[in-house]
Amino acid sequence: MQFKTLFAAAAAAATVTAQNTTTGSNSTTPAAFGVLSIRSGSELQYAAWQAANNGIFNLLPEQNASCDDAAGNYNSATFRIVDGELYLYSTENPPQYFYVDRSGMGQGKIGFTTGAEPAPKNAERAGWAVTASSQLQFDGAGFLACPGYESDAYEIWLAGISDHPGYNYNCTGVATRVVAMTAPVSCLYQS
Ligand SMILES: *[C@@H]1O[C@H](CO)[C@@H](O)[C@H](O)[C@H]1NC(C)=O
Ligand SMILES: *[C@@H]1O[C@H](CO)[C@@H](O)[C@H](O)[C@H]1NC(C)=O
Ligand SMILES: *[C@@H]1O[C@H](CO)[C@@H](O)[C@H](O)[C@H]1NC(C)=O
Ligand SMILES: *[C@@H]1O[C@H](CO)[C@@H](O)[C@H](O)[C@H]1NC(C)=O
Repeated sequence: MQFKTLFAAAAAAATVTAQNTTTGSNSTTPAAFGVLSIRSGSELQYAAWQAANNGIFNLLPEQNASCDDAAGNYNSATFRIVDGELYLYSTENPPQYFYVDRSGMGQGKIGFTTGAEPAPKNAERAGWAVTASSQLQFDGAGFLACPGYESDAYEIWLAGISDHPGYNYNCTGVATRVVAMTAPVSCLYQS
């Protein structure tokens, strides 16, 4: 259900983008948004980003978030960007927000912390942006999707650091499409 909503919104967002190509560098960032992976001809095409287990995924059977609208059974994540930092959308405490670890240890790991939980030593928080063509980036970099997580899911890593981050092989580059969520639902994601 959520997937269909995102998909319809993606089509609408594409139309809006086409109508206005003069927006500034960050006026394209919706207040709350979902993210779709774009990899034409693969099962990753239009796969919604999910948040669970301290990471971002595609094609998890269940992300197991606890959402305000419990009946909604939301299986994709909603994000927002505040001062260049990427948060999971929530109207309540504790906040959950992302870090990227571009060190030799982290190899492009994208993780999130909950509340006062510290990020790893080499983690960076700020650098997230949505481009004029509605792609999500961190410091200008895109993303890799690495297969094999819980058998059929993919974990999303930052591209440009390793082609086998975290000893995950057969990773594939994905473009993204940011989709505005007009009625975002607050969730606490499983960390
Ligand atoms: C396009 O975006 C600019 C900057 O946000 C805005 O001033 C303008 O009104 C928009 N044009 C249309 C047709 O939406
Ligand atoms: C937009 O960009 C400017 C300059 O980079 C920054 O100061 C401002 O916080 C950004 N606004 C948002 C909503 O991200
Ligand atoms: C979600 O919960 C189910 C049932 O407990 C479990 O099998 C699955 O691994 C969980 N998903 C994640 C991403 O942890
Ligand atoms: C990578 O893909 C090849 C070809 O499909 C396969 O033989 C191999 O087992 C895969 N490696 C991993 C680590 O998944």
